[in-house]
Amino acid sequence: MAYLTTAPRGTKDILPGETPKWQYLEKTLLQTAELFGFREIRIPTFEHTELFNRSVGDTTDVVQKEMYTFQDKGDRSVTLRPEGTAGVARAALENGLLGDALPVKLSYNITCFRYEKPGSGRFREFHQFGVELYGADSPAADSELLALACECFQVLGLQNVVLEINSLGCRECRKRYTDALLRYFSQYRGQLCSTCLERLDKNPLRVLDCKSPQDKEIAAGAPSILDYLCGDCQEHFREVQQRLSAAGIPFRVEPTIVRGLDYYTRTVFEMVHTAPDGERMVCGGGGRYGGLIQELGGPNLEGIGFAMGLERILKIMEDEGCDFPPEQTCDVYLASMGRAAGVKAFQLANLLRSEGFSAQCDLMGRSVKAQMKYANKLGAKYVIVLGDDELQKGEALLKSMRTGATSPIPLGDGFSDAVYEEIMKNAYADLEEVAGQLGLDHHHHGEG
Ligand code: HAM
Repeated sequence: MAYLTTAPRGTKDILPGETPKWQYLEKTLLQTAELFGFREIRIPTFEHTELFNRSVGDTTDVVQKEMYTFQDKGDRSVTLRPEGTAGVARAALENGLLGDALPVKLSYNITCFRYEKPGSGRFREFHQFGVELYGADSPAADSELLALACECFQVLGLQNVVLEINSLGCRECRKRYTDALLRYFSQYRGQLCSTCLERLDKNPLRVLDCKSPQDKEIAAGAPSILDYLCGDCQEHFREVQQRLSAAGIPFRVEPTIVRGLDYYTRTVFEMVHTAPDGERMVCGGGGRYGGLIQELGGPNLEGIGFAMGLERILKIMEDEGCDFPPEQTCDVYLASMGRAAGVKAFQLANLLRSEGFSAQCDLMGRSVKAQMKYANKLGAKYVIVLGDDELQKGEALLKSMRTGATSPIPLGDGFSDAVYEEIMKNAYADLEEVAGQLGLDHHHHGEG
């Protein structure tokens, strides 16, 4: 029975009380990226498994341990996307987007799936906002993306997030560095975990981001990539830093960042939040990928991008007390008594809604008293009370739920007259203001 009433481990329902925050977050990030010229792309939730093996890399934790892979009914191996970069690159290639004027800039809000141990900001289904930029191999592109990352935090009002950057060099730097790593880790063959022993021969870089505590300790003494960069890669990394400094974008060089995915070359970075108690949370990451597009059969173009974990960003925003837009509540509740008044309330509600105000009327056949109680619970700003008697007189009662003040308001024949337009315009204003503008305190009926 638990299977029917409990969501799978590592997944989470986002309830109506929280969705406004999510909408705000997703929209704000897309809009911020838009200022930098990024346009949104939407890609499938699953891809051919081979795509991730090739791009994310088959010695990574993500591919080796964390993918949701299954045979579909047609016996194809498919995988729920563990990240967005591979799918977006595939989509850009397949749809000929990279034939357009370069650079091409794409943004996305997606769900991702990784079979990880849930806890401390880790989920099995989680949300990413990400961007990818194709066709520019200059340090200018790196600093542009880091500027965007920085702007995202500013716009959301996040404090205590630091951009940590590193360079993983090109193929040649990497070769020399992995040789050095192999020499270093070989001394510890007896102590490394079994996965890392295998990785040591295939991809020693992966040992550096193993999660086992003992391996972490050994990795802490490993040589630094920055000592193995070729002249060009050094120059590239230096220029990225110069540009960031010139633009006043704070960052820290962190030579231990290797990232958990295989496609990176040269600049890599992470966005790290530090809580008052010193706890670090990586809320975003990314970098340049020199070989990925070609690996997928595309042209010789470089890409660079990043993704942020939205569950983590939201958690930090809540912890730090960041501002969210106020929740949309009911502007007007139309309480009615009697059949004719009920029909009028329905018409009036539709009119208000067509003007963009949120309006609700009774659907339960409740008493006016019970309707007022419900309106209060909804947080309605105004209630308009309509009774059959008042209707005869061509009147209704407008009540401000904030101040409790009431005024009679005239009801014309149709809904297009100026009185209603005024009410609508002022649904957000105080009742006194509404009444004042309408001249209602003088019980002024008719057009106004
Ligand atoms: P990533 O570092 O694997 O990079 O993931 C980016 C962010 O997603 C992480 O920093 C974290 O905030 C969030 N995240 C990752 N795994 C989980 C999880 N299990 N639960 C909750 N949040 C999680 C990428 O995915 C690359 N595709 C980024 C990129 C784009 N690189 C170039 N372009």
